[in-house]
Amino acid sequence: MKTLLLDSSEAGIKKAGEILRDGGLVGIPTETVYGLAANALNAKSVLKIFAAKGRPADNPLIVHIADFDDIKRFALVSEIPKAAVKLAEKFWPGPLTMIMKKSDAVCNEVSAGLDTVAIRFPSHPVAQAIIRAADVPLAAPSANLSGSPSPTTAMHVMNDMNGKIEAVVDGGVCDVGVESTVITLAGDTPRVLRPGGVTVEQLAEVLGKVDVDDAVLHKLADGKRAASPGMKYKHYAPKANVKLLKCSDDAYIEYINSHAASDVAALCCDEDIPFLKVKTFSLGKRGDYLSQAHRLFDELRKLDENPDVKVAYSRLPSVDGVGMAVYNRLIRAAGFEVIDLEK
Ligand code: TXA
Ligand code: MG
Repeated sequence: MKTLLLDSSEAGIKKAGEILRDGGLVGIPTETVYGLAANALNAKSVLKIFAAKGRPADNPLIVHIADFDDIKRFALVSEIPKAAVKLAEKFWPGPLTMIMKKSDAVCNEVSAGLDTVAIRFPSHPVAQAIIRAADVPLAAPSANLSGSPSPTTAMHVMNDMNGKIEAVVDGGVCDVGVESTVITLAGDTPRVLRPGGVTVEQLAEVLGKVDVDDAVLHKLADGKRAASPGMKYKHYAPKANVKLLKCSDDAYIEYINSHAASDVAALCCDEDIPFLKVKTFSLGKRGDYLSQAHRLFDELRKLDENPDVKVAYSRLPSVDGVGMAVYNRLIRAAGFEVIDLEK
């Protein structure tokens, strides 16, 4: 199959809408990462997503809408939590996905057999325009091959999906850079299953109490069921071994330089670059978590373009604010191993 690269003009968006309505797959830009979209109402199209990504069938998809009222089609109306309305007022459209009890309009292929559905109203104008042009809700996971870093540019999507899907719409570089915050409202206390651009602190301001699922920061204990099926799979892994160092800024530089070799790299901050004796991949200014989130996946993909790099050292990020989203992705990339130099 030849994959069309469409621009985000009216014509490009119209074409994307037609392909989606006809049952095809389109890579679409959102403010978080690129999505691999299909008509959420068409089970056959939804199944193609799993095939194109190599995604396990038990990992449910997010339904993307472009009108708040559509929540009433896909969530069980009698059980739409007040918290969902409050959060939507504050954070939609935007990088927040809410999990609720599902209605019969959501097929099993989307919900992977669960009785809940994940719903998101993206803020990216091109994403909204494509949903409107398709005139159907869109089921969309991140548009990477399963296990690879999520795509934040149309080229990333092309690299993973060329020849496997009908089209990609180029809407530029994704603003947030990591996937949406996922919160479940289907239990007693709202619980964050995946941290993202909307922070736990911001959610707590609206809801009062918010839990953070254990699997966000820690490795799932053997045999324990993941609240979010996606959390149990290996994620965000570049080919090089990512190693996380818990240490001061000076110790970070000293440690890497004492391990300097041609196959060693640093996933670092701009301020470190002049002092490091290895290849550097910078996530931006020190302490700037927004920049770290924005650049993380692109830098992990750049690492993959350097097959000679076998080990990449990064600092263990802070879990404050958007830092938690960076921590969550990096700790998975590192297989949950941290080298504690403070000990
Ligand atoms: O920012 C995003 O959320 C992007 C863009 C394209 O919108 N999408 C995305 O989708 O990241 P995906 O499939 O890569 O990640 C969705 C996560 C998975 O970990 C999945 O297991 C979880 O959400 N999820 C989806 N539906 C769920 C449900 N009903 N219950 C629990 N977890 C669910
Ligand atoms: Mg994903």
